[in-house]
Amino acid sequence: MKTKVFYFTGTGNSLYAAKQIVQNLGDAELISISKVIDTDIDFSCEKIVIVFPVYLWGLPNIISEFIKKIKVPNTTSVYAIATNGGLAGDPHKYIKEILKKKRWYIIRRISYLDA
Ligand SMILES: Cc1cc2nc3c(=O)[nH]c(=O)nc-3n(C[C@H](O)[C@H](O)[C@H](O)COP(=O)(O)O)c2cc1C
Repeated sequence: MKTKVFYFTGTGNSLYAAKQIVQNLGDAELISISKVIDTDIDFSCEKIVIVFPVYLWGLPNIISEFIKKIKVPNTTSVYAIATNGGLAGDPHKYIKEILKKKRWYIIRRISYLDA
């Protein structure tokens, strides 16, 4: 499996987005973060995609916990995709803070609005 797409969803939007990503990438596995968060997660693959909703202009707690847990080699790329209800705030600011402690850095940020 080249890509692991990890998702957290409350009402289904992020699951929908994650499924679209899996379908379009091919050779990708869809994994529920809620189901694996308390296990020894196997992060080995070329790409990791994390899909989640914005909660209160930031991250759901489970996503903060999940990002703290990720362990991958330098050759693995990690992508974070946040769905939102129109006032996204700055969830990536919180991701950046967690990553700083791991000595990882965000290399690019993209905002996309589908009106
Ligand atoms: C507790 C809670 C807090 C939310 N906070 C925000 C927010 O600050 N900004 C925003 O744009 N949307 C917010 N939303 C809306 C969700 O981010 C949005 O509907 C998202 O697509 C839901 O994804 P899901 O269906 O995968 O749960 C919030 C939703 C919930 C349930």
